Amino acid sequence: MSDSQHPDPQPSTDADNDTPRRSRWLGVLIVAFALVVGLGMFNIGRLIIRPKPEVTAADRLIEASPQLQKGRDLVTRSSDCMRCHTMELDVVGPGFRNIAKRYAGRDDAVPYLARKIREGSVGEWGRIVMPRHPQITQEQAELMAGWLMALSPATPPAASAP
Ligand code: HEC
Repeated sequence: MSDSQHPDPQPSTDADNDTPRRSRWLGVLIVAFALVVGLGMFNIGRLIIRPKPEVTAADRLIEASPQLQKGRDLVTRSSDCMRCHTMELDVVGPGFRNIAKRYAGRDDAVPYLARKIREGSVGEWGRIVMPRHPQITQEQAELMAGWLMALSPATPPAASAP
C-alpha cells in the first residue's frame, strides 16, 4: 500500500506516475486561488456598494441637487481652493469636512463662509492666511459655501432622525 507512495528510483517512470498527481494539485491550487480572488472581489464590491454611512447621506444629497453640484465644481475645479485644501485632511487650510463639521450648528454658516471665501481669513484655524478671492462673485461664494455645509454629517436633511 505505502509502497506505491514511494518515489520510483527510475526517473522515466517517475515522470509518468507523477503526471496525474501533479495535475490534481494544480487543480486544488487553481480552486484555492479562485476562492481567494473571488472573496477579495466580493469584499471590494461590498465596500463599493456600502461606503461609510455619513458619506452616503452627503453624497445622496449632493447627487440630488444641481445647485450643490455647481458649488462643488466651483470649489474643486474652477478655483485655486484645492491648492491649499483637501476633503479630509488639514493641509495648508483646514479639510473641507472639518470646516463643515465645525459650523454645522450655525444658522448663518453659509453666508459666513461665503464672506470668508471672498474676503479671506486668518486666526480661525491657525496663523496661516487664506487669501482673498475678489474674483469670486457673491453668488458663486454662496454656492461654494452651500456645498461645503452639505458635507457635514451633523446636518443630513436626507436622513432625518425618526
Ligand atoms: C493659499 C491657500 C488657500 C487657498 C488657495 C484657499 N484657502 Fe481656504 N483656507 C486657507 C487657510 C490657511 C485657512 C484657515 C484660515 C484661518 O485660520 O482663519 C482657510 C480657511 C477656509 C475656510 C474656513 C474659514 C473659517 O472662518 O473657518 C473656508 C470655508 C475656506 N478656506 C474655503 C476656501 C475656498 C472655497 C477656496 C477656493 C476659492 C479656498 N478656501 C482657497 C488656505 C487657503
